[in-house]
Amino acid sequence: MLDAGSDEGRQAAAHFRAKGRLTELEAGQVLIPGLVDLHVHAPQWPQLGQRLDLPLEQWLQRYTFPLEARYADLDFAAEVYPVLVDALLAQGTTTAVYYATIHVEASVLLAQTCLAKGQRALVGRVAMDHPAECPDWYRDASAEAGVADTRRFIAAVQALPGAETGLVRPAITPRFIPACTDALLKGLGELAAETGCHVQTHVSESDWEHDHVLARCGASDAASLDAVGLLTRRSVLAHGVFLSGPDLDLLAARGAGVAHCPLSNVYFSDAVLPVRKVFAHEVNIGLGTDISGGANASMLNSARHAVIASRTLESGVDPDLPRAARRREGARITAAEAFWLATAGGGIVLDTAIGLFKPGYAFDAVVIDPSRGLHMAPEDGPEALLEKLIYLGGQANIAAVWVAGRRVR
Ligand code: GUN
Ligand code: FE
Repeated sequence: MLDAGSDEGRQAAAHFRAKGRLTELEAGQVLIPGLVDLHVHAPQWPQLGQRLDLPLEQWLQRYTFPLEARYADLDFAAEVYPVLVDALLAQGTTTAVYYATIHVEASVLLAQTCLAKGQRALVGRVAMDHPAECPDWYRDASAEAGVADTRRFIAAVQALPGAETGLVRPAITPRFIPACTDALLKGLGELAAETGCHVQTHVSESDWEHDHVLARCGASDAASLDAVGLLTRRSVLAHGVFLSGPDLDLLAARGAGVAHCPLSNVYFSDAVLPVRKVFAHEVNIGLGTDISGGANASMLNSARHAVIASRTLESGVDPDLPRAARRREGARITAAEAFWLATAGGGIVLDTAIGLFKPGYAFDAVVIDPSRGLHMAPEDGPEALLEKLIYLGGQANIAAVWVAGRRVR
């Protein structure tokens, strides 16, 4: 990276201008690191913005498993996935961590779509085999079949033309402990050790989910995943609202990270993730949208909700409780911290050099145009712009997008 004001910088600019290869920002525009969405359910795209009237365990059975089962049809996947990837790039999401479905071919198609469109991605073929929690028309036939299909998916993604750059990588994806038998979890843990692939799952998301795992496993989600080798430096754990202090210490020791999805938590989690507590335990953390549990595809919106949720946690919500009983002092995070979570924090969780402009980091970048609705005043400096971007920003402000140096929007 060069300082544009230095002699070297001016020379480089002149050189690339002469070659017609210089992109110059318009007055008022700024360049930010690309947004990193740590948690997206790609197949749930068709139900974004609806069907949030049921608790998690009923929502899965009533709406979500039937929708995901439709991706057995590759034509349906081919209709949805390109639209989704385009939509996220338009929102400035340069990296997305996707759950697909149990179907190997459709899941590979999602990875192929990301490669074709130039989005950095981790893609997971979902593993789920527990007969008590998964319908017989949407589950792995056995633990062995779930591991074998995951293995086949990893090999297929790694063999895609273009995948050798590491732009798109496979992730081992046990849906969540309730949906997986012990044998499947163990097999996937062994596969993680063997392949070194990223792992993604849901952790301590809601009262029901957290209590279900305690009752079945006699231990928390975090301890249960650790026991089978699924807590690694490359594990991305969605939600984590009910992670205890010892759970967080375990995550920190393993280098596993949390994907905070504040909007989804409103509907499914029964509580707000105390982000400050996660910071205090020095656990890696970034942000996700949790499409479609979170009814918004924008990571700027997710950052906004992270701020709002933290303020709500600090103040408490029930006015009939006394102030002291209602409050959690010092829970708030700032807009700047939420922006960090949406960029650099996500990069750290993924153990990937993205989310910062720094030598050695990929050029994943977004041009922000504040002229559309950020109401900039002449005296507004970079801090005001950042705050307004988080509180007011959206797709209209995303003027251009690069991933790994390639212009993709
Ligand atoms: N837990 C297991 N599956 C899901 C899902 O699809 N969305 C959310 N939010 N939580 C889950
Ligand atoms: Fe989720």
